[in-house]
Amino acid sequence: MGVDLKGKTCVVTGSAKSIGLGVAEMYAGFGAKVAMIDLNPEVVTQAERLAKAGHAVRGYVVDITDKKAVEACFDDITKNLGDIFALANVAGAVDQQPFVEITPERLDKMNRININGSVWCAQAALRSMRRLKDGRIINFASKSGKTGSAIMAAYSGAKGAIISITHAMAFEFAKDNIKVNCLCPGIVENTGVWGSVSKGYVENLKMEEEAVVKQFTSKVPLGRLCRIDDVVSFVKFLTVDGDYCTGQAFNVTGGREMH
Ligand SMILES: NC(=O)c1ccc[n+]([C@@H]2O[C@H](COP(=O)([O-])OP(=O)(O)OC[C@H]3O[C@@H](n4cnc5c(N)ncnc54)[C@H](O)[C@@H]3O)[C@@H](O)[C@H]2O)c1
Repeated sequence: MGVDLKGKTCVVTGSAKSIGLGVAEMYAGFGAKVAMIDLNPEVVTQAERLAKAGHAVRGYVVDITDKKAVEACFDDITKNLGDIFALANVAGAVDQQPFVEITPERLDKMNRININGSVWCAQAALRSMRRLKDGRIINFASKSGKTGSAIMAAYSGAKGAIISITHAMAFEFAKDNIKVNCLCPGIVENTGVWGSVSKGYVENLKMEEEAVVKQFTSKVPLGRLCRIDDVVSFVKFLTVDGDYCTGQAFNVTGGREMH
């Protein structure tokens, strides 16, 4: 049967493009009231496009690493769209460098975007969810958060932390009927993260882009890279149908990661 999202408020970070935009469009398609958050002002254009098509959508240009700005944004969402039922913590960023070249600044940046930003948004959303005694939080980890990736130790560590934070939150908020899970995608085509990762491998490993794609595809049992829709449909499942799931880190990797 699942949850009827019609009229429920759903928040999606990192929704100016790629996976986040796909998730926002999916929520809007189910009749939810959607708040789209991103650092990139394109998020407002995308929100306006969806609003023109008849959906209840608002766009917010916010840096999720700024705790105070996040709190103000979520207050505005609650005031204008009502208490928040679902939060998809999609915003994230990747970085690549040989391990011995990681600097304090770059390590800190990975943690601030991928860990702190997700924590601030979840804290702000939880105020609503605890009032509702209901809620879904979908964090974004990565396959690299389970089996770390070469020349991506900072990113892998931040995504590994998201998995542990998801476990801790699931224990803490089960009593409030709030389910907290995370997704661990493999390589997702046509996204910003894969765009920079493939570019990084071309530069750092001195490989042609075509060879990089071929090498990574060959490691996937299902024989293709992940598509944005593969991830979006899993977010849909966790929001609409996954009533008995909490504290899980689901692989969306075509079999590349199996634990
Ligand atoms: N694309 C992949 O192959 C892949 C694989 C595994 C995990 N992931 C994870 O999935 C999520 C989405 O990936 P994607 O490839 O769609 O990303 P993307 O780079 O295409 O989009 C991410 C969005 O987040 C926004 N963002 C970044 N920092 C922000 C900040 N401080 N405040 C607000 N917004 C900010 C960006 O502006 C961008 O619009 C990320 O958390 C990523 O780590 C992606």
